[in-house]
Amino acid sequence: MVASFAGTPDPRLRELLTALTRHLHAFVRETEPTIAEWEYAIDFLTRTGQKCDDERQEFILLSDVLGISMLVETINNRKSGGATESTVLGPFHVVPSPPRKLGDTIDFVGTGTPCVVRGRVLSTDGMPVPGAELDVWQANDQGFYDVQQPGVQPRANGRGLFTAAADGAYWFRTIVPSHYPIPVDGPVGTLLNATRRHPYRPAHIHFIVRAPGHRTLTTHIFVAGSEYIESDAVFAVKKSLITEATMTDDPEQAAQWGVHSPFVVMEFDFILL
Ligand code: BEZ
Ligand code: FE
Repeated sequence: MVASFAGTPDPRLRELLTALTRHLHAFVRETEPTIAEWEYAIDFLTRTGQKCDDERQEFILLSDVLGISMLVETINNRKSGGATESTVLGPFHVVPSPPRKLGDTIDFVGTGTPCVVRGRVLSTDGMPVPGAELDVWQANDQGFYDVQQPGVQPRANGRGLFTAAADGAYWFRTIVPSHYPIPVDGPVGTLLNATRRHPYRPAHIHFIVRAPGHRTLTTHIFVAGSEYIESDAVFAVKKSLITEATMTDDPEQAAQWGVHSPFVVMEFDFILL
């Protein structure tokens, strides 16, 4: 069987198909599925494909809950030279983030706990990266992204594209995001339900940080102490990305940042390779 791929001209394609066939055969030999089980598996994958459209990618979600996305991501972004660790992109980076000025808010609902997110973008030698671009998106305090609640949340709520200052500093206002369930109304939800796994991700804010001459970083900062921080449904938590959310009850500082007191400060420096 494996030998049938021996004539594949592209050596990488040959390697991938040979290994895939070998591992799939080993799986079938080990588990000996019945015909009905194999038909169920094919139907499951068919339904997974049928659930996909321009805004929904059920195959990525399947890869996420099986831990494959995180494995591929980790293999391709092995930590080197003290750079910030990356993590999964996720399926909600589907609309462009509007350019905003440093200090602007990305919250246009006003129901959550006010939060200031700040820090610097640095290179691995500790030098600032002026003008680095930070693309940010997050769920609201109810655990929904704007695209999941059209007509409830304003367009681009929870999203912003910021440019770091000359000293690499960035800061913006938002609300503390909530933990939330990944979409469970498709085959992935059926899988989680059948295996008694919960669908929740701990509270986090997504970032893509870019600067010329540096490797683009796709990551999150996770809210320390969030529910599910130890059991992320998609296995994407890395300890180095867990960030204290410090509650501050100081009206003077609140006025400086343009938020109501009490408010939360999250501070995180992004180190680019
Ligand atoms: C997210 O964080 O947006 C996400 C990541 C993987 C699966 C579902 C959601
Ligand atoms: Fe997310």
